[in-house]
Amino acid sequence: MVFKQQFSDLSERLRVDDGNVWAVSDRAAEMAAAGADVIKLCVGDPDFDTPAPIHEAVASSLEAGRTHYSPAQGELELRSAIADLETRTSRHPCSPEDVVVFPGATNALYTVLSCLLNVGDELLVPEPMYVGYVGFLAAIGAKVRHVPLNAERNFALEPEKIKAAVTDNTKVVLVNTPGNPAGNMMTREEMADLAAFCWRRNIWLICDEVYSMITYNRRHVSLRSAAEKLDNVIMVDGLSKSHAMSGWRIGWAVAPQSLVPRLVNFAGATVFGCTQFVQDAATWALRHDEYYMSLMREEYQRRRDFLVERFNGIKGLSCQSPDAGMFVMVKVTPLFSGGREFAEGLLDAQHVSLVPGEGFGPSAKDFVRVTLAQPVSVLADAMLRIEKFVKAQPASEKLK
Ligand SMILES: Cc1ncc(COP(=O)(O)O)c(C=O)c1O
Repeated sequence: MVFKQQFSDLSERLRVDDGNVWAVSDRAAEMAAAGADVIKLCVGDPDFDTPAPIHEAVASSLEAGRTHYSPAQGELELRSAIADLETRTSRHPCSPEDVVVFPGATNALYTVLSCLLNVGDELLVPEPMYVGYVGFLAAIGAKVRHVPLNAERNFALEPEKIKAAVTDNTKVVLVNTPGNPAGNMMTREEMADLAAFCWRRNIWLICDEVYSMITYNRRHVSLRSAAEKLDNVIMVDGLSKSHAMSGWRIGWAVAPQSLVPRLVNFAGATVFGCTQFVQDAATWALRHDEYYMSLMREEYQRRRDFLVERFNGIKGLSCQSPDAGMFVMVKVTPLFSGGREFAEGLLDAQHVSLVPGEGFGPSAKDFVRVTLAQPVSVLADAMLRIEKFVKAQPASEKLK
């Protein structure tokens, strides 16, 4: 007799095809492990160290014995710091009771969606879309409808497009602004319009705002700030990007009072409270962050400007300057058949790895995504290699 191993439908759904999105970067990692001099421009993890005072805050917290279980909703001090931030930046005051803390925005989004959707319920999400959504959307078993965005407008989240794609079955609209991969930002008017539309149609609107604090041209407007009514809107944010704290795993959701106890029940059943000393450090970070964040933001901006200028100086490639975020999208057609051909060829010829745009959705197939999470010296080296690679293409002669 053999033990017949049977698995849940959920674990089966999680065996999703990620469309080979990381194939180029996986191959780059293998090449680097074999000794090749590879430049990785594929990562979305800040290259900065977490600012030193945040390390000190964790050390003091450990010293104070803060190594025990913590409330499922999150430490009151951290929820107060988040609520204060939200109150400062939103026209709707926020209370710590509106906030739930999670180990990262990914977990916050999974929990929120788990509390809103049944298997087969319809969710609308624009594409190109952050690939990290694929897994939890599959776990939930949502019927995902993608709304293609316009490449010519740097994949701006146009409410009209989203509204036109809504059906009578749509239960949730999930948007991400400032966006990954394209760094576009919705305006206050666009967000207010979308929120009001969703409210009228009885649709939940969730906004992933993890790049809210890395903006260059104008300030981010949060969903809670733009929306007239709050009972259908949920915003999710976190410290991974803005504070270079990706490994600390701190995110949060700000949600209507009807939803908060459900989120807390889910978080209690699955996480059972985030790490106390990490929450203490996160509280310190949110209360004292402006100086460190502005340094990182200025550096990202310098890198963005450098890359945009250099890419636009290469005949056959073009690039719009993103308003926010940690990436630039570079159009490689018609010189190349698409982002995949460019990324594969560049890795082979010049050992630079980037992510083909199609990994984020079919609308981005003509593009590659390039990270800002490398110092200018590394970006400069990468650009020399990219220039060589493009010049070596037989078709590039005709562009002169
Ligand atoms: C749009 C977006 N949302 C969420 C995340 C993940 O955030 P966290 O580290 O807080 O889980 C990322 C990370 O790349 C992202 O780009």
